[in-house]
Amino acid sequence: MCYSIPGKVVKIDGKMITVEYFGEIRKAKNEFYDLMPGQYVYAQGGFVVSTVEVKEAQELLQNWKEVFLKLKEKDLRLAREPKTLYQIANATRQKHQDNSCCVHGIIEFSNYCACDCMYCGIRKNNREIKRYRMTIDEIVKQADTAVNKLGFKALVLQSGEDPWYTEKKLLELVKKIREKCGVLIVLSIGDRPVPVYKNLYEAGAKSALIRFETANEIIYGKMKEGKKLKDRIDLINKLKEIGYLVISGFLIGLPGQTEYDLMEDIRLTGDINPEMFSFGPFIPHKGTPLAKERIPALDEVLTVIARARILYPESKIVVTTALETLDKKGGARKGLMSGANSLMINLTPEKYRDHYEIYPGRKGMEQTVEDRIAEVLKLLESIGRAPTDIGLA
Ligand code: 5AD
Repeated sequence: MCYSIPGKVVKIDGKMITVEYFGEIRKAKNEFYDLMPGQYVYAQGGFVVSTVEVKEAQELLQNWKEVFLKLKEKDLRLAREPKTLYQIANATRQKHQDNSCCVHGIIEFSNYCACDCMYCGIRKNNREIKRYRMTIDEIVKQADTAVNKLGFKALVLQSGEDPWYTEKKLLELVKKIREKCGVLIVLSIGDRPVPVYKNLYEAGAKSALIRFETANEIIYGKMKEGKKLKDRIDLINKLKEIGYLVISGFLIGLPGQTEYDLMEDIRLTGDINPEMFSFGPFIPHKGTPLAKERIPALDEVLTVIARARILYPESKIVVTTALETLDKKGGARKGLMSGANSLMINLTPEKYRDHYEIYPGRKGMEQTVEDRIAEVLKLLESIGRAPTDIGLA
């Protein structure tokens, strides 16, 4: 199984390489391998993450070719004659990003958290949930399965802000995964000192998922007591300077957030100019002070996605699990048809998955990974999308 298409190296210019597949040209940064033109590679989010044997790559491309063209045709057909906001966003996505769709895996390795964010089910002061931590070896084993058995090319490693994972442990984790797996490692571990993030980058983690949650500094202060929006934005900018491919965004439907705030949220995401936009609905959790707040309607979330797509046509926008949770059957499809072009698959071991309850009723809890993968592939096929995230356009 494969969530990416191999590309042939056609040009090497220091760390930047140019790859080609089915006539499409992409650029990617190579920090891991000694490459020669004519070799084949997988890339994710603009980073070369692994090499592929020539014979294997050619066979894969042969198998893909016909399917690829059919998918493209289907996508184009579905994007024709747009009328509604969602359709216009979808046509914009088609025009600027074609039918490529990234499918990222996520491993939630600890639900311990030193923070007390008002909206979050794993906040420190929620005593109702069962806490867990995966050992470094457990996480590496899960990553190995995800990459080498299931074919994932990008993995988000997410946790609460858990100081048990010291810099030393995190470095060991990143190095061990990179030794075994040709994969883009996306860290989602919250606040850490910039030098720690720098060392983790050097060790092989090239991407970071870090939301700013809301562009409204008053709401930010209320949601995260004692913390400042400015510090979060500074951290995000520093991560970009280090070289991280940043995934960022905000929550939709926080108490007090207005329509104007949401437009500011989109604008701030655009200013940050992340590799991928990530925004999802806020879903109240009973173990938090916001237990009684309202859940946003699906249309509010789709509207944000559509507006972001139209304002930032070149962006990559992920359908978050929280959006899928609002409409378990149709959420992913609706998101992808309203401007989004990326999906997540939860790969947290089943015995822990239920406990990573940042919000209740999460989509995917009741499914095996195999069923979820099958569901996603079927969905992508039905709307003409291909897992072709091979690099920067
Ligand atoms: N509903 C939806 N998303 C949430 N997150 C935290 N709590 C909730 C909630 N109740 C999101 C935050 C965080 C990400 C890991 O999970 O945006 O950045």
